[in-house]
Amino acid sequence: MSPADRVAALFAETYGTQPTGVWSSPGRVNLIGEHTDYTGGFVMPLAIEERAYLAARPRSDRRIRAVASGRGLEEVDLDDVGPGRPKGWLAYLSGSAWVAEANAPDGARPGHGWDLALLSDVPVGAGLSSSAAITCATLLAMDELGGWQRPLAELARWGQQVENVVVGMPCGIMDQTASLLCTTGTVLFMDTESGAIEHVPWPASSDDAVLLVTNTNAPHVLADGQYADRRRQCEEATDVLGVPSLRSATLADLDSATARLTADQAACARHVITENARVLNVRALLEAGRISDVGPELTASHASLRDDFRVTVPQLDVSVAAALSAGAFGARMTGGGFGGCTIALVRREDIDDTAQAITAAFAVEAFTPPEHFVARPAQGGRRDL
Ligand code: GLA
Repeated sequence: MSPADRVAALFAETYGTQPTGVWSSPGRVNLIGEHTDYTGGFVMPLAIEERAYLAARPRSDRRIRAVASGRGLEEVDLDDVGPGRPKGWLAYLSGSAWVAEANAPDGARPGHGWDLALLSDVPVGAGLSSSAAITCATLLAMDELGGWQRPLAELARWGQQVENVVVGMPCGIMDQTASLLCTTGTVLFMDTESGAIEHVPWPASSDDAVLLVTNTNAPHVLADGQYADRRRQCEEATDVLGVPSLRSATLADLDSATARLTADQAACARHVITENARVLNVRALLEAGRISDVGPELTASHASLRDDFRVTVPQLDVSVAAALSAGAFGARMTGGGFGGCTIALVRREDIDDTAQAITAAFAVEAFTPPEHFVARPAQGGRRDL
């Protein structure tokens, strides 16, 4: 049975009726462009094959009921949803209904509840955007059943509002955009200032170069507070530099403002400025089919996230170092940091050796064993049934 059939069956079993439809949206890895999406910068994520599947049926009252495979049934009234409530996974589903109600075109306000069933194989807490996958699948369902036909880029902004307002996570726009707009075989280039996107093909000749993803299984410690802290440092640096966003700042601007910036503010700004330049380089290299040359840019990105932005943990650094020692073209942490995953650009024939080298390095450090999979650029959000 496909995952879409399975979530439809879970729905039917729970509510005694068929869902109106099933939608799904994927998790993502970010090739490059980390911590740039809330300062108007560039990002280059790709969707992964792991997805969240949502079966939905509108209700006539304002109750939201949701069942998730392995988690049982939870419910909340739409009128009880708001900033900080409810907590847990139900926040993403009911928060989507709440944001959709606030944003739906005039005259088309949903004003009703939902019966929902969720099944996701995106690893949770691994920095692979499992929450964006759930939220985007939910918004796709509500958009279609509400008949609003909003552009996907607008649904991505709604998804960001669910995180920012309901969940209280001050994230940027990358994950939701990746989940909804990525296409098979391509990496999504996005200018988060203008909203412009471009699908950059993963070079066909690069059958030999693949992205090995390693979930370090490192516990996320204080991740949300640290994320908000880095974001604030960037905003403070932006103010001191007197630029509209860090996107328009240069290293020369930074040099001339050093005396007015704290060391942390300067380091955060330096990461963002250099990272934006690396994203543009990577886009040009991919367009030129020079896939292996992308490697050093990935490795430089990791060093910048470790030394300037300070969002790595030992597991991420060890994973990257082990991949490089095993001969990877390049490697870096991906996602927000403080745990989560690394990506390594490796020759196809080196996948197993690289994975084993990372696992062995983790054993030496007595870290929890990591998990590995290969990321193939997959399709964004869609209706399945
Ligand atoms: C998290 C956020 C994104 C982005 C990344 C870091 O995944 O949700 O918006 O800021 O961290 O690049």
